[in-house]
Amino acid sequence: MEKKKKKRLEGIWDVKHMFESSLIIFFIIGALATTAVYYVNSDEQETSPPPLVHNAVNYDSLDGCDLFSGKWVYDNNSYPLYQELQCPYIPGEFACEQHGRINSNYQQWRWQPHACNLPRFDAREVLERLRGKRVIFVGDSVNRNQWISMVCMLQTVIPIGLKKMQKVANASLFSFKAFVSGSTRLFYDLSVYTTITSLQQRYTYINTNIQEYDVSIDFYWAPLLVESNADHPAKHKRNERVVHVQSIENHAKNWVNADVLVFNSYLWWGTPTLKILYGSSEDAKESNIVSNHRGYRMVLKIWSNWLRTHINHTRTRSYFMSMTATHKRGADWGKEGNANCLNETEPIMKDGFWESGSDMKMMRILELSLNKLKAKGVNVQMMNITQLTQYRKDAHPSIHRLFYSALKAKQLSNPLNYADCTHWCLPGVPDIWNELLLTYILRGVK
Ligand SMILES: *[C@@H]1O[C@H](CO)[C@@H](O)[C@H](O)[C@H]1NC(C)=O
Ligand SMILES: *[C@@H]1O[C@H](CO)[C@@H](O)[C@H](O)[C@H]1NC(C)=O
Ligand SMILES: *[C@@H]1O[C@H](CO)[C@@H](O)[C@H](O)[C@H]1NC(C)=O
Ligand SMILES: *[C@@H]1O[C@H](CO)[C@@H](O)[C@H](O)[C@H]1NC(C)=O
Ligand SMILES: *[C@@H]1O[C@H](CO)[C@@H](O)[C@H](O)[C@H]1NC(C)=O
Repeated sequence: MEKKKKKRLEGIWDVKHMFESSLIIFFIIGALATTAVYYVNSDEQETSPPPLVHNAVNYDSLDGCDLFSGKWVYDNNSYPLYQELQCPYIPGEFACEQHGRINSNYQQWRWQPHACNLPRFDAREVLERLRGKRVIFVGDSVNRNQWISMVCMLQTVIPIGLKKMQKVANASLFSFKAFVSGSTRLFYDLSVYTTITSLQQRYTYINTNIQEYDVSIDFYWAPLLVESNADHPAKHKRNERVVHVQSIENHAKNWVNADVLVFNSYLWWGTPTLKILYGSSEDAKESNIVSNHRGYRMVLKIWSNWLRTHINHTRTRSYFMSMTATHKRGADWGKEGNANCLNETEPIMKDGFWESGSDMKMMRILELSLNKLKAKGVNVQMMNITQLTQYRKDAHPSIHRLFYSALKAKQLSNPLNYADCTHWCLPGVPDIWNELLLTYILRGVK
């Protein structure tokens, strides 16, 4: 086991070897994808919609359009926005093609709002408009999924040597930087090849005299926003949730220096009850068992107070991503037995589809908290992506991902049991969340 792991790491270190095998994989995937597309097309009657047009200056024209009400349309002209193998920062959890997924249609759906058209994504323009800015994603692994997506969307146009991925401070903060060139020098680019905690180092040279951006796209692991027993970015499997309901400062002090904050917190509230500790995290005196809904409400209150008193809202704009669907019950879309997202290759086309596992009450609690905050003069835009994720049962990694603990023979014999229907393949659905997010961010940045 140990030997195997070592071997894998050596393989990663050997960049030349990796490049060669990537090429081979690339060709194999290319050939398979071509075949797959051919088969799909042969019985596809509808012509694909016209591609999105580049409409850089027109973000303001989206004012008044409900971007979250719409439908998915197949558009292989505009999507995907990047190739999986072009983005060295995708960890094994989201790299579905590299883990055997052959059908890649999930990458080619665009979100079409009913009332307007989104402008075509342009990485250079976005970087230009984010120049000098710092964006921090704060939350759980779905938020990390979205952060990596944003990095991948932007990094392709940044030359090698003018970007780097690094792990900052006490392991909860990860930072992708597109920075300004200085003199030619050697530095590390930490690429997320395996797990987020065993970042691999690559040497890269800075080139001078090429287009440069001073942009930082960061991720901070805080799945319950406040301190909890799930705070270690990798070792956080626990049977019981313990939440330090009044302790946010140790996390939040890392968020103050941002121009854009993008929060999420939903999945880790999935247990019916959790243990709440009062007082500081070092000196917790009382504890209480409360329902997940009550706990969520308490934490959002602490979070709201912190945001209201510690953030300069003239500088920093804040967003909250609403909960995302986890396609664990095939019965929701008419499948028999204990089917889930495994083997699904098409979105659900039924307008307004809502899976049984998505807790509407949690969404209401978030909405109420944000409304209260707004009444106090702090506007946190809720990114209402819940409905658009409901349709995308086809876009999860299922078994096509890296699993960090070795799967036992019993598990392997029933893939339904270990299929990941929570996260999302990249490229894929999180790219769309980021396109929507960017329409909000860029509307305010002139
Ligand atoms: C979120 O968007 C869906 C789809 O448009 C809509 O039905 C729902 O009411 C929205 N929820 C909120 C809280 O805005
Ligand atoms: C995209 O899809 C259309 C129709 O589904 C097909 O005619 C076309 O060849 C496809 N293009 C690519 C590049 O796969
Ligand atoms: C890391 O954490 C320790 C203990 O919580 C703290 O004393 C130290 O200041 C932290 N380091 C940084 C760079 O934040
Ligand atoms: C808040 O941010 C704005 C814009 O960056 C700045 O002009 C202002 O001085 C800041 N206010 C405080 C109290 O720091
Ligand atoms: C998923 O697809 C594989 C390969 O076609 C097949 O062997 C397996 O039985 C399918 N599993 C389910 C649960 O549909």
